[in-house]
Amino acid sequence: MSFRIQPAPPARPNRCQLFGPGSNDALFEKMAKSAADVVNIDLEDSVAPDDKDKARANTVQAINDVDWGRKTLSVRINGLDSPYWYRDVVDLLEKGGERLDQIMIPKAGNASDIYAVDALVSSIEAAMGRVKKLAFECIIETSAGICHVEDIAAASPRLQAISLGAADFAASMGMQTTGIGGTQENYYMHREGQKYWSDPWHWAQANIVAACRTHGLLPVDGPFGDFSDDEGFRAQARRSATLGMVGKWAIHPKQVALANEIFTPSDEAVNEAKEILAAMEKAKKEGAGAAVYKGRLIDIASIKQAEVVVRQAEMIAGDS
Ligand code: COA
Ligand code: MG
Repeated sequence: MSFRIQPAPPARPNRCQLFGPGSNDALFEKMAKSAADVVNIDLEDSVAPDDKDKARANTVQAINDVDWGRKTLSVRINGLDSPYWYRDVVDLLEKGGERLDQIMIPKAGNASDIYAVDALVSSIEAAMGRVKKLAFECIIETSAGICHVEDIAAASPRLQAISLGAADFAASMGMQTTGIGGTQENYYMHREGQKYWSDPWHWAQANIVAACRTHGLLPVDGPFGDFSDDEGFRAQARRSATLGMVGKWAIHPKQVALANEIFTPSDEAVNEAKEILAAMEKAKKEGAGAAVYKGRLIDIASIKQAEVVVRQAEMIAGDS
């Protein structure tokens, strides 16, 4: 173990982040009543340029008026290359009130992007005497973002989570695909007349997970565009969970239950983890560092793996 202990991520559930355009205020109450742990009102790419002012005003009103319960309330601001983002931050903080938990910074390309937003937010917070510090989350969705992901993860103590944005990422990387996440038709191995599909998002996801785990943040899988394909969503979410991600976005309400299903450890998984912990406790008492569980080796590392599952289940149960 390095001398430096790996920091724990924020102890809050983040199994599903439900998005809705800030221009569509009819959705806000529905988002608040959903089973998503996090609600993201969007001011960026789901809002047309002519609707930006209206979407921002709707969002400010919704922060103040809607009962968001115990959800983490987040607003996705516009990109730092746009003429909109500074006004998003100013209005959200000056007019939005303290119910807003977090803002999401899209297309983060380097640590300075986070630093710039932090400087503006800190100044407005000080001027307003805001008590609750605004948290940040950001999206890795460009080639620059993935190249600098570790610097980005370390850029501000406000940062709590990083998502992969598959569609913009694919465009920035020049990938030949138009799908938003999931299996890509042309990404396969071939053997003896059979195609075996592979995962083009794997490298970016694993990088984001490593950066997040190093700096105590929550790694999150972004959108899955085809909301009529439940099994495709499940498969993508299972891969993300296996790699260490804690949740996934929903761009349609029907995806919320799917994300909650995959990112809540099953009773079976929790029971198995508890049995592993018990078996290792017994081994320890007998002076052994390893044991056999259901015909396979378990050792000190298995304790840590099992604890990840048990802690996640306890945190989710404690919050519901
Ligand atoms: N949050 C909460 N409720 C939603 C919702 C959302 N994001 N999207 C749709 N609903 C509601 C609808 O209002 C409708 O409610 P009703 O039964 O009371 O009438 C119900 O869910 C079924 O909606 P449906 O008709 O299937 O979808 P739609 O055509 O109205 O909307 C989208 C489809 C994709 C346009 C819409 O889901 C949406 O805007 N998603 C978010 C897009 C976004 O934020 N993108 C940015 C991040 S990538
Ligand atoms: Mg995007």
